[in-house]
Amino acid sequence: MELSGDCEDLRKGNKGFILHTQRVRLAESVIWILINSLLLTNFCLLSENPTRIGLGVMDKIIPLFSLNEKVALITGGYRGLGAEIARALAEAGAVVYLNGRSSERVEESVKAFRAEGLDAHSAVFDVTDEEASAAAVDAIVESRGHIDILVNNAGIQRRSPLVDMALEDFKAVIDTNLTAAFILGKAVASHMIKQESGKIINICSLMSDLARPTIANYAAAKGGIRMLTRSMAGEWASHNIQANGIGPGYFETEMTQVLRDNPEFDSWLKGRTPSGRWGKPEDLKGLAVFLASPASNYVNGQLIYIDGGLTAVV
Ligand SMILES: NC(=O)c1ccc[n+]([C@@H]2O[C@H](COP(=O)([O-])OP(=O)(O)OC[C@H]3O[C@@H](n4cnc5c(N)ncnc54)[C@H](OP(=O)(O)O)[C@@H]3O)[C@@H](O)[C@H]2O)c1
Repeated sequence: MELSGDCEDLRKGNKGFILHTQRVRLAESVIWILINSLLLTNFCLLSENPTRIGLGVMDKIIPLFSLNEKVALITGGYRGLGAEIARALAEAGAVVYLNGRSSERVEESVKAFRAEGLDAHSAVFDVTDEEASAAAVDAIVESRGHIDILVNNAGIQRRSPLVDMALEDFKAVIDTNLTAAFILGKAVASHMIKQESGKIINICSLMSDLARPTIANYAAAKGGIRMLTRSMAGEWASHNIQANGIGPGYFETEMTQVLRDNPEFDSWLKGRTPSGRWGKPEDLKGLAVFLASPASNYVNGQLIYIDGGLTAVV
């Protein structure tokens, strides 16, 4: 009996064990099917839309940075930093108008943009000419119906010790780097105020806050554009216009060729900059898109530096 009792228990135990094993296997199969269907769903989502990652959260954040159907004017936008900013805005979906003074050079750049599949057009005018600047803005609005983004990027430098600086060189730098931003800001704002939306990005500089010998005119202009940015934000924010500044550190462009060709300056800069290198124009792309897009709708009157950490350390 004890034995049969044991056998009975054993039999019951075996049955229980078999039942338990079957349940475990069933649960394993259900989990396996769930995992596979999840993987399959994600694979389908990824193949439909490469921006969808994991459970598809990227599609919620990406539209915040989209510039689809936006129209942008970038002064000095056919080369240097302006061209890379224009490229970024166009890659985010904007129609971009590239400005410069030589129609031949601007057209060449427009062609290169189009060859990359970007929607680019030329806007040839001198930014220091108020009439020509206002006419260019009006022509864009007439042809597109709106203007959404202005990047005041055109700039020049004329170096000289302050004591020897010609008034003409002082005025030329102020006119191009500061007064033009006032002229174009006013021209686009008259449309943006009616539209009740707009983004203005003013290209500032380390010289918006710091000075260096031989560029007093440039520092005065870049300090001024910082305050102009704040004034634009203060006066136009109620019309849903955001005006912000980008402050590049030292970047590889034609403007800095003289400095890059100087081994002493080159090694000073690399030692002084925590990132240990010159900025590349494409380093500006992310911030430019952010400041031009709905992602920055509550950012106003700010100057953001992109300088490899240079202004963060002594
Ligand atoms: N590179 C840097 O390290 C650095 C650092 C801080 C700030 N920034 C600022 O970034 C901006 C772009 O500099 P960048 O280095 O790209 O200079 P860049 O290569 O010399 O380009 C300057 C651009 O401005 C245009 N421009 C100048 N005067 C103009 C005028 N009167 N009307 C229309 N366009 C005019 C030029 O076109 P044209 O060929 O027609 O003259 C050119 O497209 C400037 O505001 C500069 O001050 C540069």
